[in-house]
Amino acid sequence: MENKNLQQRDGFSSKMGIIAAAAGSAIGLGNIWKFPYITGKYGGAAFILVYLLCIALIGLPVMLQEFTIGRRAQANAISSFKKLKPNTPWFLTGWLGFITAFVILSYYGVVAGWTLSYVFSAITNSFAGQNPEALGGMFGALVSSPWKPVLFQVIFMALTAGVILGGVKNGIEKYSKILMPLLLLIIIILDIRAVTLQGAGEGIAFLFQPDFGKLTAAGIMSALGHAFFSLSLGMGTMITYGSYIGKKENLGVTALQVTIADTAIALLAGLAIFPAVFAFGIEPGSGPGLVFITLPNVFNQMPGGYIFAIMFFVLLAVAALTSSISILEVVVAYFVEDKGWDRKKATIIATVAITALGAFESLTNGTINFTLPLLKAGAVTWFGFFDWMIELSDLLLPIGGFFISIFVGWIMSKKDVDDEITNSGELAHSWVGIFDFLTKWVAPILILITFINLIVGFTN
Ligand code: PFF
Repeated sequence: MENKNLQQRDGFSSKMGIIAAAAGSAIGLGNIWKFPYITGKYGGAAFILVYLLCIALIGLPVMLQEFTIGRRAQANAISSFKKLKPNTPWFLTGWLGFITAFVILSYYGVVAGWTLSYVFSAITNSFAGQNPEALGGMFGALVSSPWKPVLFQVIFMALTAGVILGGVKNGIEKYSKILMPLLLLIIIILDIRAVTLQGAGEGIAFLFQPDFGKLTAAGIMSALGHAFFSLSLGMGTMITYGSYIGKKENLGVTALQVTIADTAIALLAGLAIFPAVFAFGIEPGSGPGLVFITLPNVFNQMPGGYIFAIMFFVLLAVAALTSSISILEVVVAYFVEDKGWDRKKATIIATVAITALGAFESLTNGTINFTLPLLKAGAVTWFGFFDWMIELSDLLLPIGGFFISIFVGWIMSKKDVDDEITNSGELAHSWVGIFDFLTKWVAPILILITFINLIVGFTN
């Protein structure tokens, strides 16, 4: 099914393609690497509840807002604002997204590189016979090595650039469609093994029994930031993808489907990890290594673990790839459409710059000592540069989301917004009023409160 109205711009060729690509962007390291480790860091179930609220009240409406902006303007993140509100500073929202894309992709490539490295560890059967402590040491040795994580990061970024060079239909869409369902299947198999481990109950309780005493201002900020991160929102990815969606598609339904798929995968990943964390006596707050340390223990405890380990890390790398391409596309689409660069030049220059930044971050995990201050929970905290970039992205994305909500709620013409959401009156939605209310009031106000709460730091 070709979209006749997309003859000018490259676009997604089918409904499944759109959902697969948008879900492919949303589902990635955020769900399987980041969600479990920040859940562990901020205390479990109460954090998850706040996260789910952020998804429903802020994330879902912002996704629809981004689709609306992109499809209306038929342009990349920065030009979209220029087209819809010419001669105003609104294009700066697009620029903020451009900068955020740089920040995120720099560390994303590093973590994806760890995943690739774990594919090789799995193939060479390096997890077998190792106890949890030794597996922790293995992870520590990898990330602090002066060359190994950089090598794998470079390989991963080259793959990302390769797909981006293929364009939308042949690149992004083709890969997303096949491999995401396979990843889901593996996670479900891992869930079954994890919840049947001896001592799994404590992990299940950690995930589902909220203790609100553990909730901090920094935890709430992180839940909000992660809702944006996980759904690929706040920096123009879904604006860019929205511009590739055909005029006949139902944007609201697409946003809902992507949100549900993304959230389900995160929760299923949590369910694969926390029972095992407790069963093996791993510290839930052990940070970015949590998944890499925990899951090899699970593989060691299951029949066919050797094969599952390989498949899991391959698919995780693929999930990372379908996300990283969507981040790079934000940067490349701008250079191509606004600066008139050819796609190849734009891709190569953007990739080299982002990879160089990421390599430096990677080296701050052990080789170079470089820390920076950041305001967290009302106090200034020092982070190593790698973690600093992660924390920074959790702040930048909601700021972007705030302006996107204000733009769609108050600045864009109401008719333009309604036309996109209802396909010029063809679709009748009973929920448009709710969307309006969330867009105009709920999303911006909640984002604002979270920031004020963080600055004041009065929750503990
Ligand atoms: N959503 C991706 C993940 O969860 O891994 C990461 C991501 C992609 C963040 C695209 C932001 C973005 F614009």
